[in-house]
Amino acid sequence: MTRSERRAVIRGTGSALPSRVLTNADLEKMVDTSDDWITSRTGIRERRIAREDEYMSQFATRAAQEALASAHLSASDIDLIVCATVTPDMPIPATACIVQDNLGAAGAAAFDLAAGCSGFIYALAVAERFVSSGDYRAVLVVGAELLSKYTDWRDRTTCVLFGDGAGAVVLTPGDAPYGVLASSMHADGKMADFIYVPAGGTREPASESTVAGRRHFIRMRGNETFKMAVRSMEETSRAVLQKAGLKTTDVNLFIPHQANRRIIDAVGSRLGLREDQVYINIERVGNTSAASIPVALDEAVRKGLVRVGDNLLFAAFGTGLTWGAAVCKWGP
Ligand code: UT7
Repeated sequence: MTRSERRAVIRGTGSALPSRVLTNADLEKMVDTSDDWITSRTGIRERRIAREDEYMSQFATRAAQEALASAHLSASDIDLIVCATVTPDMPIPATACIVQDNLGAAGAAAFDLAAGCSGFIYALAVAERFVSSGDYRAVLVVGAELLSKYTDWRDRTTCVLFGDGAGAVVLTPGDAPYGVLASSMHADGKMADFIYVPAGGTREPASESTVAGRRHFIRMRGNETFKMAVRSMEETSRAVLQKAGLKTTDVNLFIPHQANRRIIDAVGSRLGLREDQVYINIERVGNTSAASIPVALDEAVRKGLVRVGDNLLFAAFGTGLTWGAAVCKWGP
């Protein structure tokens, strides 16, 4: 196989969600909100929230194990683990290394990649290069996030949005026409303060005053983010399809980042896609950041909605701000 013929094909998918369900009715008892506001503004009805004693690598590991099983590969086959997350187990070391040890993937390279809700697109784009170049034969891409641990449960403008979870895919080399056909990654740091956690890094290390000021929780300028999300997801989707030589009418299934039902509907309709061409699970899981696309993909695959030869379009948007898209022809 020459380099130009070699593609990175998704061979297996997996996902893991916490068992604890938090409904809109539960949130009504915690903050000044209503089921009607949350459902009509976001499309979210419930989300999965990790327990106090649960942490990210546990879900990332479970999703990875499922993806390996569905790819009929074992941990020793993995050459590289890329873990897309902004909610690691701890600041140091990379959680990908903890996942490597949990899996028993001794010898695999492992790193975390922080691109917020665009994390899965970024990680897929990076992993795809390592596989199509011939450098690695099996790469595990995990999108895993426990945003509940960074959520201010007194802030109604953010706490109703997020959910926890992890999704994973395994990429191995394959022949054209199957595999990742094109991907794109974008960022604009001028909008870094649209979604951010002020303290806990080197700029504002953890102290009694940062804790008292609730500065370790996520802050968001929702409305401005919303507008950028719709525009950039449409643009990057169109660009990546063009790069792959496809039209919007060639898309069999669009699996967007699940941030808000209204964002998904607006992007889908701007791209001219029918409702049945768009996979949506936000009503059950909320916004799981980097986990949202691989969790949705795993659900779609397990429901039999993805067939060999289908063109799948992924697009995401998140903190940074970052955004990007990828198109993939589903392989045998
Ligand atoms: O994952 C990628 C990054 N994140 C996103 O993509 C999020 C993008 N943004 C959004 O999804 C939406 O902007 C939100 C769902 C966050 C907010 O919806 P919105 O339609 O943009 O509402 P808004 O922020 O303009 O607020 C409208 C009103 C405000 O009240 P006033 O000022 O009009 O009196 C808010 O205080 O709704 C109020 N509000 C709430 N009311 C009840 C905000 N949050 C809530 C709430 N319950 N949970």
